[in-house]
Amino acid sequence: MNFEDLIQDIYHKIKTIEDPGEMASYIPELSKVDPTNFGVHISTINNINFGIGNYNDKFSIQSIAKVLALILAYRIVGDEIWNRVGVEPSGTAFNSLVQLESDQGIPRNPFLNAGAIVVSDILLSNLKNPKEDFIAFVRSISENKTIQYSNKIAQSEKKVGYRNVALCNFIKSFGRIENEPSDVLDFYYDLCSLEMSCKELSELFLFLANNGNDIKSNKSVLSESQSKRINALMQTCGFYDESGEFAFKVGLPGKSGVGGGIIAIHPDQYAIAVWSPKLNKKGNSHKGMKFLEEFTTRSELSIF
Ligand code: DON
Repeated sequence: MNFEDLIQDIYHKIKTIEDPGEMASYIPELSKVDPTNFGVHISTINNINFGIGNYNDKFSIQSIAKVLALILAYRIVGDEIWNRVGVEPSGTAFNSLVQLESDQGIPRNPFLNAGAIVVSDILLSNLKNPKEDFIAFVRSISENKTIQYSNKIAQSEKKVGYRNVALCNFIKSFGRIENEPSDVLDFYYDLCSLEMSCKELSELFLFLANNGNDIKSNKSVLSESQSKRINALMQTCGFYDESGEFAFKVGLPGKSGVGGGIIAIHPDQYAIAVWSPKLNKKGNSHKGMKFLEEFTTRSELSIF
């Protein structure tokens, strides 16, 4: 399969389509990003690396970082994590509060804001210096020391994060948050503010296409079974109430963020990252979804 020709062809086609999406303006700082940015980068386990457009520009990865937080917490507390967050698709928006009441403060899955807030609480309870230790972990699996938080983005979100405050306090009221909500949320905003490029994302996530092992060093980031589970969660819950649609159209495990990024994994083949900031009504990149749909359809490569 000549990925380069295919990616170029689809990129140029999708670049010109009309984009009815909107920027994630609920985080003021994110609405300052140029909406015409569009980048794609693929990294394969056979060492093919190819990018096009703004693939080297860093952007706010937002909810994509929830996967990294989950992975670190899973490494630390193991299967106990599933007592704190579920593994079911919610069928609700990423910031929804509704199911928490009937579920007694156990979020349906770790990718909802509620679930990632609980994962943040677990990390806060288990790391000496959560902010420093988390970024050190991300840098270690990517072997990239330039990855940084954006204080500007974290502060911008904190100022208006009323729903996340509500979620965290509500979960705490069920006795399911151990730390002070303001500390949990500060850490949550920091992790969501991580900035990476498509190239960095596809390189970092490639271990999930390689049974949990880093390609270059062959070091294990996750066991094979843990890696399977993270991919399964990305497949079933990675796009909130659009997860079924993503499976239907793209057919790969993936995760989106409101910065307009998407990472998708083809186990045993590749990781691909796409960035285009305008979002559809479900909060997922409009052009990113379109690009990946065409990519897996024309390459005839998906997990189904
Ligand atoms: O808490 C929030 O709303 C954001 N920091 C993250 C949301 C997000 O990226 C949802 N993904 N599509």
